[in-house]
Amino acid sequence: MEKKFYVTTPIYYPNDVPHIGHAYTTIVADALARWNRLKGNKVYFLTGTDDHGKKIAEAAEKVGKSPKEFVDNLVPKFKEAWKKLNIEYDRFIRTTDKDHEKLVKEMLQKAYDRGDIYLGEYEGLYCIGCEAYYTEKDLVDGCCPIHKRPVENVKEESYFFRLSKYQKRLLDLYKKNPKFISPKNRKQEVINRVKEGLKDLSISRTSFDWGIQLPFNKKHVCYVWFDALFNYLSGAGKNREFWPADIHLIGKDITWFHTVYWPAFLMSVGEDLPKQVFAHGWWTFDKEKISKSRGKVINIDELIGITGNKDSVRYFLLRATPFGDDGDFSNDAMIIRHNNELANKLGNLVSRVSGLIEKIGIDKEKNKKMSRLIDEKSFNEIDILMKNFEVDKSLNKIFSLIDKCNEYVQKRRIWETKNKTELYAVGDAIKKISILLWPFIPETSEKIARIFGDWEFSGKEFEIPLDTEAKIRKSEPLFVKVEEEKINKEEKIIGVMDSKEVGFDEWSKLDIRVAKVEKIEDIPGADKLYKLSLDVGELGKRTICAGLKPFYPKDKILGRKIIYFSNLKPRMMKGIESQGMLLAATSDNHSKVSILMPSEDIEVGSRIS
Ligand code: MSP
Repeated sequence: MEKKFYVTTPIYYPNDVPHIGHAYTTIVADALARWNRLKGNKVYFLTGTDDHGKKIAEAAEKVGKSPKEFVDNLVPKFKEAWKKLNIEYDRFIRTTDKDHEKLVKEMLQKAYDRGDIYLGEYEGLYCIGCEAYYTEKDLVDGCCPIHKRPVENVKEESYFFRLSKYQKRLLDLYKKNPKFISPKNRKQEVINRVKEGLKDLSISRTSFDWGIQLPFNKKHVCYVWFDALFNYLSGAGKNREFWPADIHLIGKDITWFHTVYWPAFLMSVGEDLPKQVFAHGWWTFDKEKISKSRGKVINIDELIGITGNKDSVRYFLLRATPFGDDGDFSNDAMIIRHNNELANKLGNLVSRVSGLIEKIGIDKEKNKKMSRLIDEKSFNEIDILMKNFEVDKSLNKIFSLIDKCNEYVQKRRIWETKNKTELYAVGDAIKKISILLWPFIPETSEKIARIFGDWEFSGKEFEIPLDTEAKIRKSEPLFVKVEEEKINKEEKIIGVMDSKEVGFDEWSKLDIRVAKVEKIEDIPGADKLYKLSLDVGELGKRTICAGLKPFYPKDKILGRKIIYFSNLKPRMMKGIESQGMLLAATSDNHSKVSILMPSEDIEVGSRIS
């Protein structure tokens, strides 16, 4: 049965060109939308821009433009970026769109008529970056906890929304719908804060006019979050047919707005609530916060330019980190995945098998009992992962199928046996792989389809075997490898390990030692890292940072011996120079970590060889 699937991204502030953080959510939304389209669901995908507010007005003033002119210049940059990344949304909404403004006014009036909006005076600490007020308690050294810049003390006549009235209903909502705030680890924080009590929320401003006027007092413009959040409703298709949203994808920094303000606004105006809000982690760039002032921004053209392939960008962002967790982006890490996974594994399979088919041909009939390399089970397994937003694991699974095909060709020595039925089996598997990959790397999948006989991308097509009559020719490489010289040495070693082809020379470059943990400390502001002080015998004392906090209490590590990589290039982590790494086993989904500890009688400084 056809089901509706409505997915949204945040609407981005068009005060600069889009960067990797904006691209991330939008790519995940596109992958989810495409996966649901594959399944034949009725999909609606909404993205757009948040045009109003003081931040935009100020940015426009700086360059001598009117706010409207300013955003009109930047909005096309978002649309172009999404086109370059093959993102296919159904609507690009702007908060300056007439239908949106009309809806916001209606909603304001409704909440006002219900007695949920009243006039008062606001005095508070305001961060322009967040377009939000903070309390003393929220500040870090007197500055906004997110933008790290001073907040302004603002006093103005303001309308207030009776947020306090919704405390109980919100707590009931979180209880009744345990998935409303996802992933799990973000939920408790919100619940605790809501339990502490909710203050009424100032929802209008008189100090600037770049916003939607309140219908009941034209002197005031609407607070940017009341305006922005309603985009999900005004953009929900004709007659709002797709509302309620199945999933709002957001970054973790805007969880509070989406899981507290938004449902409360909707309760007030009597609209259905979205089914789920999923807050993902943040990307750093070379282990540093993305920030324009530090030159650590990476825009879409630069991202694509690293490998020259847009699907590599999509692939890297979707696979490199579990959706929900923070991730670190580096050119090297992306090049390594591009070379080792896309070019070596997927690219080689496609060109090798298409070449063999051109030479040898395929035959479906002869060996009826031969099992298919990939069947419906794989589709269903990935479907379960995608329903849980485990995009990284879905790609892991698909790549294990690619490995299986490569191993099959190798083991059966098809190039020697010239077995047409076996070759058919691999060709058929490649068709299925291309369909499974389409939500993630659509351009590549479409190229594969053209090589092997052209097909539509749908779940139905997944069940149709490869056409034996198709004219198949050896394909051009799907991915052009990036020269290894462009990768720095440390990453290269990791990269080589990843491809399971470590020569003795590479291996012997590592200096691995037994070390003793002499001291273990928390690092302020780090949830996962410990700082470890090590005794490494003849190498002296060393300091490393390790992400062990979620897995080990300190006393399970203190005084114990560990295996230590002593000659890795030092890295700055949370302001501490980490001089190497320790050896630990990690489960596939990072839920378990086990440190390898040698027996106590081995001396510190001993080499591992
Ligand atoms: N306009 C508001 C959202 C309103 S939604 C009704 C806004 N805009 S934003 O442009 O500042 O940020 C949009 C999104 O980008 C947020 O979800 C934020 O988490 C995400 N990211 C910004 N930098 C990021 C990273 N470095 N990494 C991942 N996502 C990040 O907030």
